[in-house]
This record gives sequence, structure tokens and C-alpha cells, in this order.
Amino acid sequence: MTTRRSFLKSATAGAALAALADARSVFAAALEAHPVARGRLPQSGDYLLDPAVRYLNHGSIGTIPQVVHDAHRQYLRTCESNPWLYMWSDPWEEPLTEVRERGARLLGCTAQELAITHNTTEGFNLLAQGLPLGDGDEILFSTLNHPGASNPWTHMAPRRGYRVRSFDFPVLEIPHLTEEEVVELHLRQIRPETRVLVFPHVDNLVGLRHPMGALARGARERGVEFVAVDGAQAVSMIPVELEGSGVDFYAASPHKWIQSPKGLGFLYLRKEAQEAVHPMWVSAAQPWTEGTVRRFEDYGTRNRPEVMALGDALAFQEEIRMDGRESHHQELWRWTLERVEATPGLRWRSPTRWELSAALYTVEVEGHPSPQLASGLFRDHQMVFRPIQTLGVDGARLSPNLQTPREDLEAFFRVAGP
Ligand SMILES: Cc1ncc(COP(=O)(O)O)c(C=O)c1O
Repeated sequence: MTTRRSFLKSATAGAALAALADARSVFAAALEAHPVARGRLPQSGDYLLDPAVRYLNHGSIGTIPQVVHDAHRQYLRTCESNPWLYMWSDPWEEPLTEVRERGARLLGCTAQELAITHNTTEGFNLLAQGLPLGDGDEILFSTLNHPGASNPWTHMAPRRGYRVRSFDFPVLEIPHLTEEEVVELHLRQIRPETRVLVFPHVDNLVGLRHPMGALARGARERGVEFVAVDGAQAVSMIPVELEGSGVDFYAASPHKWIQSPKGLGFLYLRKEAQEAVHPMWVSAAQPWTEGTVRRFEDYGTRNRPEVMALGDALAFQEEIRMDGRESHHQELWRWTLERVEATPGLRWRSPTRWELSAALYTVEVEGHPSPQLASGLFRDHQMVFRPIQTLGVDGARLSPNLQTPREDLEAFFRVAGP
């Protein structure tokens, strides 16, 4: 029988492959010529950011490199030249497999454990709806959990019968906590009915890097069945190694630190754990995705140019070594911490050990409520950061990425002084 897919394959694969290869070569050539490919860190001129804007908010939403943007446009153009052919034809399969493999390399897992979703929030909705949970079961997380990783459980609890418990994390003690204390603060909350533990790898308020492996292993020893981690603020900022970590599920948003086009997500589902999860939606592809991780990413027609460009964003990031990336973030973090400690009227609200820190930290400016500080500094200096006013913290959350000039942080201290 000739299906639409086999017809396309036989009739048009050659033409489609050629056009796609052309589109991909645009990116390959651009990356070849790019400074990152020659071993340097990216710089602000490699991006589309308005040079007048001092952008210290990569934790909310990133910006894509010019070369990835150009490749994305090229894929869109190719697709729109014959949508029937380019949105479905088999020649995309190989490049899409490559995208998944690149994502899996970054997350330290296999491509058979990685679904391309739309964002972190979607990953948690899938889990809150699809895990085998019910009456008497408890989902546990701390007040550091992002609403995108908390609300899906809270919303589904009355319908599914499980209960949700959020415990108060001592946020104001974070600068002085040790790794062991962070682990212990979670583990002591676990009860016999706790079946799921959720925590952010790096939280979005003060940038506490949770000791993921120790937490996952400790939770399992205490009988927790599923460990679900929110990696929105971690992937491509710090090393992530999921295999052997004891984590069952890990959701991420590549539009932040991977610097991909918006509207894409990753969800890792450990091989042994994914069988337990029901998909949130099913599509026409269900018969041939059954039993594989693909059933969590096929919602009917998807935006393939965007997914291809995710592959290019990953390729761009792969050019930057993870150790170089971390030491750069650490250097900026240390510089900022020392600056805050040396300035009366400023207070550091984030961890003071790098092992527990990230490229996201929160600084209070005495006498200046953070929302007004943020709107004033944007109005007068085109400076962008996220104000954090919750859980006893009232500060500027600074989240520079690799291309952020040190001068932007210096400018923050010049103009935001108490
Ligand atoms: C820690 C954390 N989790 C989840 C989210 C939600 O991400 P998304 O809106 O891409 O699903 C964010 C967004 O800022 C975040 O910082």
C-alpha cells in the first residue's frame, strides 16, 4: 500500500533532501567562519541584542546567536516554498534525529530518553497528568520551586486524588548553607506517602544549585518513587549528567541558556520510568510511537524549522567547552559577589560557594524596592534584570550569559548604588 509517507519518500525525497542540505549548509558555513568555532567565547556582537540594551536577564529569556537566527530563517523559507513537502517528508528524519542526539549529549542521556516538547511547563503538566498517582499519594516540593513546576500538580490534585505539599525553604539562610544542609532540608520532609519529589536544579529566585545526585539518591533511599527535576535554569549553563543520577524526569526550556528559538522544550524520561507515564495528548502518529519516548513529543503537525534551528543552537553551544563556560560564569559571579561585599548598602542573597551557585544571583539595594529599581533602570539606562520580591527577598536578579560584557555589570553597580 502506498501511504502518504512512502509516496513522499519515493516521489520527492531527492528534491527535498537537496533543498534541506542547502538550508543546512548556510549554518555550517556560518559556524565555520564564526569566532566561537575558533575557540573563543561568544561576544555581544554575535547576537541580535540591541547594543543600547544592557541585558542582565538571560534567566528569564535568552537571545539567539545571529548564525542560528539566519539558519532558522532559511529553514522557514525552504518550508514555506512547499509546506506539503517540507513539513512532513522523510528527508527531515535524519536531521531531526541529529537534533535529538545533540540534546541528549548535552543532558548526558540517550536520545531514546529525550522528548522535544514546548517548554519546562509542558513537561510538568505531562507528569502531573500522566504519572500513576492517586488517593493517598503526596507530591513534595519546596517554596523555591517555580510555579511552572508546581502549579500543574496543584491544579491536577483534586481531579487525580493526590495531595501536594510545599515546604518553606529557609531562603534567607541560603548564603551560608552547605550542600549537606540543602540535601537534609529536603530529605527530612519526606514522609511514607511521598511518592514524587520535585526540585529545581537551579532555582530562579536566587540561583541555588541543588545537589541533584545526592538529593535524588537520598529521596530514593527514603522510598520516593519518582524524582522530577526542573532544569530550566541549568541546561547549557552548568554541566548536566542525567545518566546514573537517580533522576527520573528532567524538564528544560532551551530558549533560556541554549539560546534557541522560543517555543521549544526538552523532557528527559528515564528509560525504566517512562513506561509508567501516560502521554498528555495522542496524535495520528500514536500507532508507531507507542512504547517509545516519541509518544511524548508528537502532537500532530509540529514546527520543523524551529526544531532544526534548535539543533543549530545546540551545535553553536557545543563549540563552547563546558569547563570554559563554567569558569567564565564563576569568574563573573565572584567578581560580583566581592563587589557586593565591599559596598555598604548592598546585600548578597545567593549562595557564597560556587558549588551551590550559578550564573544567576540576587542583590538587594538598601532603600530601593526591586520593582521600582528595575523599572527606573530600564527607563534611564536600558538595563534589564528581573526584580525578585518574594519570600523575604527584595533584590535585583542578575543573570548574565557568556556574551554579557563585564561593563554591563559594572554599569549596574554604578547606577544602582544605594
Ligand atoms: C526555574 C524555572 N522553571 C520553570 C520555568 C518556566 O519555563 P517555561 O515558561 O519556559 O515553561 C522558568 C521560567 O523562567 C524557570 O525559571
